[in-house]
Amino acid sequence: MSDDSSSRIVAGLRAWIAQAPPGAQVPSNRALMAQYGAGPVTVQKAMRTLGALGLVESRPGVGTFVRAVRTARALDYGWQTAALGAPRARIPTLSTPLRSSSPDMIGLHAGYPDRTLLPERLVRSALTRAARGAAALARSDAAGLPELRAWFATELAEATPAGVTPPAARDVVIVPGSQSGLSSIFRALVGFGRPVLLESPTYWGAILAAAQAGVRAVPVPSGPDGPDPAELARAFDETGARVLYAQPNYANPTGAQWSGERAEQVLDVVRSRGAFLVEDDWAHDFGIDTTAHPLATHDDAGHVIYLRSLTKNVSPSVRVAAIVTRGPARDRILADRGAESMYVSDLLQTAALDVVTQRGWVTHLRSLGQQLRARRDLLIESLAEHVPDAQLDHVPRGGLHLWARLPDGTDLDRLLRDCETEGVLIAPGTESFPAEPAGPYVRLNYTGPAPERFPDGARVIGRALARQLA
Ligand SMILES: Cc1ncc(COP(=O)(O)O)c(C=O)c1O
Repeated sequence: MSDDSSSRIVAGLRAWIAQAPPGAQVPSNRALMAQYGAGPVTVQKAMRTLGALGLVESRPGVGTFVRAVRTARALDYGWQTAALGAPRARIPTLSTPLRSSSPDMIGLHAGYPDRTLLPERLVRSALTRAARGAAALARSDAAGLPELRAWFATELAEATPAGVTPPAARDVVIVPGSQSGLSSIFRALVGFGRPVLLESPTYWGAILAAAQAGVRAVPVPSGPDGPDPAELARAFDETGARVLYAQPNYANPTGAQWSGERAEQVLDVVRSRGAFLVEDDWAHDFGIDTTAHPLATHDDAGHVIYLRSLTKNVSPSVRVAAIVTRGPARDRILADRGAESMYVSDLLQTAALDVVTQRGWVTHLRSLGQQLRARRDLLIESLAEHVPDAQLDHVPRGGLHLWARLPDGTDLDRLLRDCETEGVLIAPGTESFPAEPAGPYVRLNYTGPAPERFPDGARVIGRALARQLA
């Protein structure tokens, strides 16, 4: 084999390629051997060189072809920002809890439980049954499948004390996930430019939904016992707000659960201001040491707008949730839903109803509580051992997260970057505050994949923090 011969073939073919259309077939090796009087090894070497230069591509068993030339020109979409103008609110394209992670990472950042905690068998058979039935080709009622609405209403009705009129199926509006429901509520009941009170810290998605709807988020400090009723009353009075968004049971991110007394006090403030309380009961089935007590069961005058989702306990793929609401508020929310997305997939509603009405559902929930406890306790122990500087205000009695305060002065961005470099994803507390964060917090989800790796994850966080404190 001669390098000179190979270079000669490369030079000849480059000239040929320069005038050939993209996709043209390069002469066969046999033809090139004859044309250049070269051996097979020399021709193969020339073809490898052309491939490495990106000029040809070989398709095994078919031949070698001229590669389509890609322009290296950087595309410029700057005109779009000129056309769109500056956004009213800068909403992140992807919040940390929605980031995907590869299986080798330790994911403590997520917002949804790992699939091993979902009722997989029930979900699969419910979807199969729904696909075989009428739902596969049906359009749902605008407010949702009547039987599913009845199920949500009954869940609340069964916990409603005597003397309070329980909600009925007609009070339920099915939505494709509670995030979408929140957006509707803010648009329909708060309105552009008007204030909404949010616990601080609160669910990051509520902050985004408020920004998206153009409503003004007003933070109300909230701790392990919920918001202070006097502070809350002041916030209502100062801002003229008529809506409070809150999570009385296992709040995201703090895990706080309000006492019965606190719940009554907050409801009294809400009633006295002629306001609404949007109760997000997202973690209804995630009780560990206690069960969830929806505040909505104490209201029949339409003050509480109750949200409950099945995306975290049934499956993230079954994007079905409910808003339970009465009076003109219900009509306005339903009108917003119609304008926004008309109706929710009947197939998913049918499957969701199937899952939650199986006998296996109750068994599943019982074992889920035990798994949550084991995972929560393991992550707490791992933190205590490897991140002794992280403080937990309290042990959450349910939910999916630990809310840990790190030492003052911690550079959270750097910590997150360092942890990610070492394969651990965590969610920054900053995303949970409607305004300035009250301190350097992180949210750690104990329902991600592979709990046996929690100690390793904590070790990485501990090391990254120690480097900052050194
Ligand atoms: C407190 C809270 N509310 C609502 C949602 C939205 O849930 P979905 O839209 O999946 O029902 C989430 C999801 O993380 C949440 O944590």
